[in-house]
Amino acid sequence: FPLILGLLLAAYLIGSIPTALWVGRWFYGLDIREHGSGNSGATNTFRVLGKKPGSVVMAIDVLKGWAATSLAGVMLNQGAIQPEQLLYFQLACGVLAVLGHIYPIYAGFRGGKGVATVLGMMLAIAPATVGVCILVFIAMLLATRYVSLSSMTAGVVFALLQLLPQFRPDNSLLLWFGFVLAALLVYTHRANIGRLRTGTESRVPMPWDKK
Ligand code: G3P
Repeated sequence: FPLILGLLLAAYLIGSIPTALWVGRWFYGLDIREHGSGNSGATNTFRVLGKKPGSVVMAIDVLKGWAATSLAGVMLNQGAIQPEQLLYFQLACGVLAVLGHIYPIYAGFRGGKGVATVLGMMLAIAPATVGVCILVFIAMLLATRYVSLSSMTAGVVFALLQLLPQFRPDNSLLLWFGFVLAALLVYTHRANIGRLRTGTESRVPMPWDKK
């Protein structure tokens, strides 16, 4: 039991690592939360600091979700949980990492929106479904140029895919979690939704766009 509790805490602390904030602060001497959209995430790092730091933040934030979710495998290997409990603990560790990313203890509980960390979490649990969602994200981004709208759409599609038998594992828990995570993503994007409605949300320029 202490092992389970320790690893759940570790999942939150891993998710809490405020990558965008630290990369901005350490390498560029700025607080990412005072620039661009004000979000401490990969998208805003791309926007404010460029491709290289953006990719680094993206990779680390995805890795946080994946690594934290994989801690459930450690519990299983140590005999702390049974194989049929694995999905429950993967979801618990993953959600704690996502909450850590959104409400990081090392950054005054002002974190990001959870997209990259949810992606990493679900890559560890349902990689095929995530693959479909990534295609949806890309298609939506190309069509609208809005990262926020593409992220929310991919999240909702993930939840909806769980309704199909070929994507649903034998455990219907993932179905509920899909909808909880989609709702969480919509919630963390509430400022973006406001901007989308007023037409002030920033768009990602594509290389082939006419200047
Ligand atoms: O990953 C978050 C993204 O969906 C929106 O970020 O900076 O445009 O608010 P941002």
